[in-house]
Amino acid sequence: MNKEIQVSVSILAEDFSILGEVLKTIEDAGGDSVHLDILDGVFAPNLSFGPVVIKGIRKLTHLPLHAHLMIQYPEKYLADYINVGCSQIYFHLESEGNPENIINKIHSMKAKCGIVLNPDTSADTVTPYLEKIDSVLIMCVYPGFSGQKFIPEVLSKIEKIREISPKIDIAVDGGINDETIDSVLNSGANVIIANSYIFSSKDRAKAVRRLKGINE
Ligand code: DX5
Ligand code: ZN
Repeated sequence: MNKEIQVSVSILAEDFSILGEVLKTIEDAGGDSVHLDILDGVFAPNLSFGPVVIKGIRKLTHLPLHAHLMIQYPEKYLADYINVGCSQIYFHLESEGNPENIINKIHSMKAKCGIVLNPDTSADTVTPYLEKIDSVLIMCVYPGFSGQKFIPEVLSKIEKIREISPKIDIAVDGGINDETIDSVLNSGANVIIANSYIFSSKDRAKAVRRLKGINE
């Protein structure tokens, strides 16, 4: 497996009164995309932001925007997120709706589609869709908040999906830092999503390089 490693930076716990600076920090650090955590307070405990805020974010950065929908009814809102400039939509297999319809809708609007699995959802649930989607996102914490502790039991799930599909993008989200990164990379993940590790590092560019597997 020789897929390029991408780092997608979440802004969930950042100061939204200085969003421009936050986005500039991500660009300067070498982040490949911005990971937008959308929470409705129903699917997961916490509320964040939606398309109105993303419309503003779109004007503040040239980086691709990826929406991680942690909402009960994703299908209703796909167009809203794609229309404000999200080029990739991640939806949870645990949310409501028909996955095939959701995948088709996302692709018909020319965005990429990723399916997300919570830590206790098995790899088997996503295998029927692997040929139809662009990526699988493995949650390494339960959805809701940045800064939670990595759940190591998810590693075997990453390995299993990588074995089935050498080509698909496998993203990991939650609790990724300098201690957990090697295990997810070795298991076959190639899209690394992180918030607190990067923003709590003094040298953010170095932190991004570390998440790409570079040891300095
Ligand atoms: C959790 C979010 C994650 C979170 C990652 O619900 O989906 O994207 O912001 O934050 P860290 O890297 O701090 O675990
Ligand atoms: Zn996320």
